[in-house]
Amino acid sequence: MKFFVDTADTAEIADLAATGLLDGVTTNPTLIARAGKDFIEVTREICGLVDGPVSAEVVALDHAGMMREAEILRKIADNVCIKVPLTIDGLKTCKALTSEGTKVNVTLCFSANQALLAAKAGATFISPFVGRHDDNGFDGMELISDIRLIYDNYAFETQILVASIRHGVHVLDSAKIGADVITAPPAVIKGLFKHVLTDKGIEGFLADWAKSGQKIG
Ligand code: E4P
Repeated sequence: MKFFVDTADTAEIADLAATGLLDGVTTNPTLIARAGKDFIEVTREICGLVDGPVSAEVVALDHAGMMREAEILRKIADNVCIKVPLTIDGLKTCKALTSEGTKVNVTLCFSANQALLAAKAGATFISPFVGRHDDNGFDGMELISDIRLIYDNYAFETQILVASIRHGVHVLDSAKIGADVITAPPAVIKGLFKHVLTDKGIEGFLADWAKSGQKIG
C-alpha cells in the first residue's frame, strides 16, 4: 500500500519524505489556503520534495474551465496529478486528461457507484472520503470494501486512494481491505510509528545501559 501525505505544509512533507516511506502528496483548496503561499509556487516546491504524484485540485466547475486550469497546473512539474471533483464535468475532464496521458485523481467520492463511474472515465486514482463518510453516519470502510470488490470484478486499474483519514484504524483497515493508497494528515502518519511499549522498552534499555557504565565509540 502506498502512503501519501495530505497537506501543503512543505516542512512536514520534507520531514516525512526523509523517512523514505512517502509515495506522494495530496492537496486541496483548503490545505493550500492553510499553507498561506501562492498555489503555483507551493505546488512546485512540493513536487521537488517527492518523486511520486502530487495532486493539485482545479477550482473551476465547468469542463472548459477545468481544462484551462489543468493546463496551467500540469506545466508545474512532471509529477503533478490533476485533481477533479466527482461531477459530470469533472469526469469529462478526467476522460480528456487521462486519454492524453495525464494522471487524474477524482476526489469527493462518497458512493461505490460514483467510484464505478470514475473508473469508467479512466481515473488514475479515486478518492473516497472515509472520515467525512463516518461523520455523516455512514461506514467509510464499508465503502472501501465495496469499491475494492467492484474494481476487482471488472479488473479496473483505477487505484483506490483512501482519503479523509482520521486515525490509525482507518490506515490498518485500508491495508486489510487491499486499498492501493492512503492519504493522511502528517499527525496521523507520525502516530503510526508510536507504541507505548516501544517507548517503555527504550527507557528500560537506556536505564540498564547507564548502569553498565559502557559507551559506544
Ligand atoms: C483528499 O485528497 C482530501 O484532501 C482529504 O483527505 C480531505 O480530508 P478531510 O475530510 O480531513 O478534509
